[in-house]
Amino acid sequence: MNRITIAIDGYSSCGKSTLAKQLAKKLGYSYIDSGAMYRAVALWCLENNAIENGVPDNGKIIANLSNIKIEFRFHPEIQSSQTYLNGRNIEKEIRGMAVSEVVSKISSIKEVRQKMVMLQRQFGEDKGVVMDGRDIGSIVFPNAELKLFMTADPVIRAKRRYDELKAKGTEVSIEEIAENLRLRDYEDTTRKENPLIQAADAVVLDNSRLTPEQQFAAAWKLVEERLVTA
Ligand code: DC
Repeated sequence: MNRITIAIDGYSSCGKSTLAKQLAKKLGYSYIDSGAMYRAVALWCLENNAIENGVPDNGKIIANLSNIKIEFRFHPEIQSSQTYLNGRNIEKEIRGMAVSEVVSKISSIKEVRQKMVMLQRQFGEDKGVVMDGRDIGSIVFPNAELKLFMTADPVIRAKRRYDELKAKGTEVSIEEIAENLRLRDYEDTTRKENPLIQAADAVVLDNSRLTPEQQFAAAWKLVEERLVTA
């Protein structure tokens, strides 16, 4: 059977990664979290004084893009893919608020996007990939066989993110999360470079009132249809 490319885009904390991981596992495909790549660059900027008071030093960041090496390594013990920055596991650090607060600024730098898009296309060159992000169906893989665009009620999204961070032991208020999501939605949809848009041929999946199982069933039906015609 031919392998396909699955692009999943949508707002922050809409459950994209949960669905993408489930689909990748069932299909035996690789899963790439493109947001983690922008988060890795943001962490590099924080650690190397390339962003001060929320203002990125674009010259420094662009000059150092070749020194920012991002990889994904699958860890069999926890059955999940972890993000590495220059050989160091940064999975936990990139999920914290410090990175969340600056990542939209970093991801709106044209040269950063160009480099990430190039890497993402390399990761997906043999197909058999599920990638989630903001511009995967529109820019990275415009010919993907299946494009999903995920949305959910902002209040539900904030609650889900709060529960997720709380479970990981991160101290944060739900108001702080709601404000961060609101700002990121604004920045992601209004930036000049590759803003979040729904590709014309994407299927919209609003999961506000769907359980993870119902969401998976709806997506799997679409995958099966695409596999038949691929
Ligand atoms: O999916 P996420 O919340 O981990 O993404 C982190 C940030 O990266 C998000 O605010 C927008 C940006 N991003 C992007 O611009 N393009 C992508 N393909 C993925 C993420």
